[in-house]
Amino acid sequence: MKISVCGKGGSGKSTIVTLLANEALARGYHVLVVDSDESNSGLYRMLGFERLPVPLMELVGGKQRLKQKMGQPNVLSGSQIATAGIPEQYSVKRDSLRLVAIGKIMQSLEGCACPMGVLSREFLKKLTLQTNELAIVDMEAGVEHFGRGVETSIDSVLIVVEPPLESIEVAQKIHDLASGIGIKNVWAIMNKVPSDEIVTRLQTELRGRNIPVAGCIHFDPEVFSSSIEGSVPTNGRAMEEIKDVLALMLARAGIHAPK
Ligand SMILES: Nc1ncnc2c1ncn2[C@@H]1O[C@H](COP(=O)(O)OP(=O)(O)OP(=O)(O)O)[C@@H](O)[C@H]1O
Ligand SMILES: [Mg+2]
Repeated sequence: MKISVCGKGGSGKSTIVTLLANEALARGYHVLVVDSDESNSGLYRMLGFERLPVPLMELVGGKQRLKQKMGQPNVLSGSQIATAGIPEQYSVKRDSLRLVAIGKIMQSLEGCACPMGVLSREFLKKLTLQTNELAIVDMEAGVEHFGRGVETSIDSVLIVVEPPLESIEVAQKIHDLASGIGIKNVWAIMNKVPSDEIVTRLQTELRGRNIPVAGCIHFDPEVFSSSIEGSVPTNGRAMEEIKDVLALMLARAGIHAPK
């Protein structure tokens, strides 16, 4: 299953990606995390790695080369990519967890991020997973990735929603765009919710907009304070709450425990 984690900037996408990855590992899955955010670089740290892998953009010759190739039917060679086939220097790996990054904007005036969108789309399309593998994609904030077609081969979309209306409105847009391209499993996950009263209000609001809710991660002071060092706690309330979310997503996608 390929899961895309999206939502408004700062809603908690990278945190949720990390919680999901840790929970999937605990369930015995092999997990490939795809860092598709061209602006922020901290996901590797949240996942407990010491460095960002060399971005896949370098595999195709860097951004300028990728730009030149953009009109061609393929920028990556071959018709399928297995996780084991990703060249070693383009991923970082620990036990059953592997991280790849598409590319990062490094300089001012280097041009738009469209080439990274093209590469993300093609990589995710060609990526073939074994039954015991899950891919979890940390998307850039907002909705532009839908315009670039990055989600065309995604099975499940998880939209991270905070209580403010602005976040709910972005979630609505993502839900409609994802459903519009035929993705069957589109979920919202409520995040940073401060009280059960707000959980009920937010849930009612989302359901009223026909956005199915996969669960809730309360505002967790431990998650927040860990972010000062760039990490995400591997136990505690948020880790407990993510369990039901992944269980529901796997069950609805018809995926059973790995062998
Ligand atoms: N459930 C939570 N409880 C407390 N703090 C949280 C929670 N979820 C996320 N945060 C905090 O919110 C901040 C933003 O989280 P994160 O970086 O995961 O968001 P993001 O959506 O990936 O941001 P960006 O759009 O910049 O990539 C971090 O300080 C993080 O620790
Ligand atoms: Mg992020």
